[in-house]
Amino acid sequence: MMTLEEYILSHIDEEPENLHRLDRDTHLRLLYPRMCSGHHQGRLLKMLVRMIQPRLVLELGTYSAYSALCLAEGLADDTCHVHTIEIDDELDDFIREHLAQSPVGHRVTLHIGDAAQVVPTIEGDFDLVYIDANKRDYIAYYDLVMPRLRPGGFIIADNTLWDGKVADGAEHHDAQTQGILAFNDRVAADPRVEKVILPLRDGLTLIHKL
Ligand SMILES: C[S@@+](CC[C@H](N)C(=O)[O-])C[C@H]1O[C@@H](n2cnc3c(N)ncnc32)[C@H](O)[C@@H]1O
Repeated sequence: MMTLEEYILSHIDEEPENLHRLDRDTHLRLLYPRMCSGHHQGRLLKMLVRMIQPRLVLELGTYSAYSALCLAEGLADDTCHVHTIEIDDELDDFIREHLAQSPVGHRVTLHIGDAAQVVPTIEGDFDLVYIDANKRDYIAYYDLVMPRLRPGGFIIADNTLWDGKVADGAEHHDAQTQGILAFNDRVAADPRVEKVILPLRDGLTLIHKL
């Protein structure tokens, strides 16, 4: 018998070869490979980009660049662009190596630094923002990017179910869970946006700015 995950993966688009290699390389060479989006979530990110048709995308939290390349893959053409921000400068070489190996890597600009400092230096209003950096700071990221998101634009926030801890009062004590809980409450109460949570992987919140 196959697992549900195996069944899903055998009935959705295949993982492109370069992303398969990137996933393997992430597991071989980096700490915390579980942070990499992977096949299922990656195909969803690409599909969401196809649906939203953004011109300018911002990602907070690059890690190994798997999600950045999925976002780039969904873009209509080379006039559209992804800016991705990563605070860990030790990932710089790994990320650039894999951007260079990807057929859509030229659609991605990597910024090494703290998202809070880097976002104000990037020009333009965003059509789509993918929030996937420090869980403690999700509200700060939300406040930072909302004024830069054009009306009609979308925010996708990852890990918003935080391994189910959000629904378990006994697990509410650590700073990361607190950050996610506060973010979820804030978005839920924000009349400027429509929102829905998908229970995919670690939870993905889709937010539409009215
Ligand atoms: C969950 S991983 C990102 C995974 C990646 N988006 C993907 O889906 O494959 C989170 C990343 O955010 C980075 N990060 C944490 N705080 C940050 C900050 N303040 N600014 C930019 N990046 C940050 C971490 O170093 C880590 O690499």
